[in-house]
Amino acid sequence: MGIQRIESVTYSIDDLDECVRFYEDFGLFLVERTGEHAVFETLTGQTLQLDTRPGPLLPPPVEHGPTLREVVWGVDTEEELDRLVTAVGDTRQSADGVHHTVDETGFGVGLTLARPKPAPVTPRPANSLGHVTRWNTALEAITRVRPLRMCHVALNIPQAGKDEAVAFYTGRLGFRPTDVVEPMGVFMQAPGDDDQHTMLLCHRPDKAGVNHIAYEVPGFDDVVEGGNHMIERGWREARRLGRHTIGSNVFRFLHAPSGGRVEYAADMDRVDDSYETRVHGTTPPHHIWALRTNRDNEAS
Ligand SMILES: [Fe+2]
Repeated sequence: MGIQRIESVTYSIDDLDECVRFYEDFGLFLVERTGEHAVFETLTGQTLQLDTRPGPLLPPPVEHGPTLREVVWGVDTEEELDRLVTAVGDTRQSADGVHHTVDETGFGVGLTLARPKPAPVTPRPANSLGHVTRWNTALEAITRVRPLRMCHVALNIPQAGKDEAVAFYTGRLGFRPTDVVEPMGVFMQAPGDDDQHTMLLCHRPDKAGVNHIAYEVPGFDDVVEGGNHMIERGWREARRLGRHTIGSNVFRFLHAPSGGRVEYAADMDRVDDSYETRVHGTTPPHHIWALRTNRDNEAS
């Protein structure tokens, strides 16, 4: 099959203390910390690496300041891993067995075996007329939101060479375009993933950089409570609660001190091979809905 999921991501950062505080507040688990770097995990065992002195196997940064340096993709079998390493061609292997290369934009790309940890999810029971699943029980606050997994990564790329940038992922790594938004970018699905997109290459800003990484949480309440908690902890919201048009996921975005933004995401469309690539000549609305208010003269 091939690539299953994001296995690991690495950011080069300036302020380790601030980044550690951010991702602890965000709900990830700190598993390693030195004076130079920190490692966090999601519930399904993906790792987030924060490095003040990134290693020599990483390509140069694509933008100034803290930013994403590499995405390591998890592959299902040794045979598929060998096949992909051969398809990519020019790779170097680090001591941990990860094969490293670089994409057409300059982002590091790694390949390794996927090691998913099970993270069972029990959806919160919901009630509507004729569909009652919660009797004699009141809902309580989740209080501590824990992301299940990094579910997609969105990278900004220059307009020039955008087709080659996409072809690296579709031609060599087996990603499948699910929605092509001609003025904006290409949404792609990894062959072993069910989400409507595992990756977005966005050429609209016409410059290379990290756009965001999305973290799936179990449900709508987690998106709301997670965002509220981050605001209470002093972090800056980047996009208020809404539901996307492409992918249908509920979202809330925060600015990340590691570069770009992070997204709490829930309830994304799942699509299989019967979902044919959709080509949009104009950019669809960003969201189906976004939270509006007319209290306190707040802008919507
Ligand atoms: Fe997203």
